[in-house]
Amino acid sequence: MKASLRSRQEPRRVSNGVIIAAMLLSLCVLSIVKARYCSTPFGKPDDQLQEQMNSSIRMETDHPAATVEEEQEDEEDVEEAPATAAKASTTSAAAAVVSGAGKKSPKPKSKSKPKKQTCYMTSKRSERCEAAGDIRVEGNASLIHINPLSKSWKTKPYARYHDPVAMAHVREFTLKPFSSSSSPPPPACTKNHSVPGFLFSNGGFSGNLYHDYTDVLIPLFLTTRSFRGEVRFLLSGLKPWWVTKFTPLFRQLTNYDVLDVDNDGEIHCFPRIVVGSTFHKDMGVDPSKSPGGVSVVDFKRTLRAAFDLPRASASRAGARGDGKPRLLIISRKSSRRFLNEKEMAAAGAAMGFQVRIAEPDQHTDMATFARLVNSADVMVGVHGAGLTNMVFLPAGAVLVQVVPFGGLEWLTRVTFKEPAADMEVRYMDYNVQLEESSLLDQYPRSHQVLADPYAVHKQGWDALKTAYLDKQNVRLDLDRFRATLRDALALLPPAAAPLPA
Ligand SMILES: *[C@@H]1O[C@H](CO)[C@@H](O)[C@H](O)[C@H]1NC(C)=O
Ligand SMILES: *[C@@H]1O[C@H](CO)[C@@H](O)[C@H](O)[C@H]1NC(C)=O
Ligand SMILES: *[C@@H]1O[C@H](CO)[C@@H](O)[C@H](O)[C@H]1NC(C)=O
Repeated sequence: MKASLRSRQEPRRVSNGVIIAAMLLSLCVLSIVKARYCSTPFGKPDDQLQEQMNSSIRMETDHPAATVEEEQEDEEDVEEAPATAAKASTTSAAAAVVSGAGKKSPKPKSKSKPKKQTCYMTSKRSERCEAAGDIRVEGNASLIHINPLSKSWKTKPYARYHDPVAMAHVREFTLKPFSSSSSPPPPACTKNHSVPGFLFSNGGFSGNLYHDYTDVLIPLFLTTRSFRGEVRFLLSGLKPWWVTKFTPLFRQLTNYDVLDVDNDGEIHCFPRIVVGSTFHKDMGVDPSKSPGGVSVVDFKRTLRAAFDLPRASASRAGARGDGKPRLLIISRKSSRRFLNEKEMAAAGAAMGFQVRIAEPDQHTDMATFARLVNSADVMVGVHGAGLTNMVFLPAGAVLVQVVPFGGLEWLTRVTFKEPAADMEVRYMDYNVQLEESSLLDQYPRSHQVLADPYAVHKQGWDALKTAYLDKQNVRLDLDRFRATLRDALALLPPAAAPLPA
């Protein structure tokens, strides 16, 4: 898919892009805007490039399996998913689906709204299936026997359908119809549950905090909150350390332990099952579409309860009201490092911040790190999964995303900038100038990597990742950094707002 997109790039579009870029650049220069508003002299990516980008937006994952060869292989499989969905929608009239169990043929009352099918795409990103009746989950065979059900369905319960690399690591489940006369009959129940089951996967890119939240946890919250705990989670691709890490959150959503559905010899029976989550948008929820108008603020509230986070709101006066707001610098060790972290911290301290530097990784204790982030009023970090910790920031806190050099605004916008507003987090970009980037030491100024980032983006995610994400460190200009912190201070609420009831 990617390959064909690439070959369709028209040279004419590229030169249009260059003209637009040149116009934008001169506009920027003319209007004497502050440097940071004028830091992308590359114009805007054209639609095709944007589409290609949209489908490849992901954090740098250290997924051992996400290698280039696999990516090639997987491209064939990908087509299947959308095709199934398309097929499904054409048969929507025929697929009489039962949500109010038992009734064999729901009377076609003069309702104008068609019944939902068993499986349907909730967005480009995720398919959700739902059925009620006699449901028997044969987990180790990835089979869900359902009576009644009009036809067989296959689905992958992970909210990343547009991303073949991720989906290649998600187990597919089959929803299989049966009836009282089926032969052979489906296996008999060995465990009966009185509450509904909810089946999901953390295959994909689990372990990368950004993907954990955007692909799994926020959709999970959106899909299961309305059960008020009376739901049994069936997890495919379960890794014990991952479950441990998020157990406090699961405890808020289910009154039961999480079941390892892939490695379970039992036949679990349910009166109702939901397979796969609803997905609205990256790191977010659209309250106008969610049950009960639930929003990402509710998600944050649930996280506060789960991890016992004391602060509802940030304040210029700081957590202890001593006039020292806390600045948290999210550090990175391998790529996209701050090369002058100590100087940055000193600059912050000189401005009256109480400064903390911390680097979360896969093994960080979630609860401890969540509390540290919740104690912060301003959080600064280079684009990367660590910024996902903004979910723990108190309302009104400021997130400063340091955007590495390389025309990456599209990536940084979708991943953190847009989600921040819904999370009640004030957002600021800090766009790294070439002079602040280590790339300047690696390439001559005329090199494509420095002169034409979008040409590099067009070579695909791997090229982009290698050039701008893996091999770039930043040394922030301290005057610019101080100016950014001053702006951040001004954005902070003057004093802590009273806790919500
Ligand atoms: C890419 O994603 C952005 C943000 O989600 C959206 O506004 C834009 O329309 C998308 N572009 C394409 C070409 O899909
Ligand atoms: C589960 O429920 C079915 C139907 O009520 C019953 O036939 C079966 O014996 C039960 N199985 C177990 C293990 O309780
Ligand atoms: C599933 O588990 C049951 C009971 O342990 C076993 O008999 C069966 O062979 C397993 N099926 C698969 C496909 O592994």
